Amino acid sequence: MKIAILPGDGIGPEITAQAVKVLKALGESFEMESAEVGGAGYAAHGHPLPEKTLALAKAADAVLFGAVGDYQYDSLARALRPEQAILGLRKELGLFANLRPAILYPELAGASTLKPEVVSGLDILIIRELTGDIYFGKPRGVRECPDGPFAGQREGFDTMRYAEGEIRRIAHVAFQAARKRGSRVTSVDKANVLETFQFWRDIVTEVHKDYQDVELEHMYVDNAAMQLVRAPKKFDVIVTGNMFGDILSDAAAMLTGSIGMLPSASLDAGNKGLYEPSHGSAPDIAGKGVANPLATILSAAMMLRFSLGKAEQADRIENAVKAVLAQGLRTPDIFEEGTTRVGTEQMGDAVVNALA
Ligand code: NAI
Ligand code: MG
Repeated sequence: MKIAILPGDGIGPEITAQAVKVLKALGESFEMESAEVGGAGYAAHGHPLPEKTLALAKAADAVLFGAVGDYQYDSLARALRPEQAILGLRKELGLFANLRPAILYPELAGASTLKPEVVSGLDILIIRELTGDIYFGKPRGVRECPDGPFAGQREGFDTMRYAEGEIRRIAHVAFQAARKRGSRVTSVDKANVLETFQFWRDIVTEVHKDYQDVELEHMYVDNAAMQLVRAPKKFDVIVTGNMFGDILSDAAAMLTGSIGMLPSASLDAGNKGLYEPSHGSAPDIAGKGVANPLATILSAAMMLRFSLGKAEQADRIENAVKAVLAQGLRTPDIFEEGTTRVGTEQMGDAVVNALA
């Protein structure tokens, strides 16, 4: 099995090194090859997604991605900015399903801005469709308004659309994930107002016929936003479109209060995926050895589970992360009185030790 390692820039290389260390410690014979991406790609080859890097990602069974977006590249033209690398990879690899677990480890209950009883033990999975919806629909632009009280003025417009096959494939991902977790899917839409999302609801309901062991509920997005902060533990798997998912997944991430803990997966129609922490390249702490590597280590666990067929090894990593938290080890972002402050490398080493 071949894994493409794309550390990126900012804290990317530091945190990715810890995840690679953990993968190596599993004792499996993975073939790992690294390439530059983002600011590192620009620095080495003049482009955020060099051809060699894209070819490596395409040839690999899975991609482990660090982070991109160091401020030193801010003044570059948009097409050369580090963030173009992640957009390019999603498009080139057909990564249409974005999975973001929001888990609050009991030891970190104090890190959330919500009351501990509302969030402690939280374990939900948000699945966001990533390549369709109003973000990509055409036509779009600014034109002369054709009707209504503002006729003749300029208007901005976008097109919301979802093809049946696009809805089907994300629904399958959601039901399969829920089946593994043994519970329920909440499909979030706006079927009361939008044709696109009435269609979404109809198709999700149809796909559900293949998954009668999984419970399905439908919820309007405004209510879902409310429920996420009121009683987030009532959710299990949430599946939704690109725009609603963009907003809800960021809200869900903050329930846990610690961006340094949250992994993500972006999957294609087969088993291939790109795995990365939910956070960015944190230029403010890059090179200081203090970044929390756990989101990246947990992303590697997701990679083992979803792309490499190694669920047991994924469990091992996740249990090791729980163990180091139970030992009281904390990087500065999750530090609290009475715990032990460690750096990026020490945290990686502690996870390796806890694997045993
Ligand atoms: P960010 O996630 O990089 O940082 C936000 C805050 O969280 C900062 O204070 C940072 O120090 C802290 N933080 C993030 N990850 C951490 C970790 N592992 N351990 C400890 N603290 C951590 O978001 P920000 O500042 O909005 O963006 C910085 C750059 O990253 C931007 O150029 C942005 O475009 C890019 N970015 C890249 C992403 C990616 O590579 N997929 C995703 C999000 C942002
Ligand atoms: Mg977002």
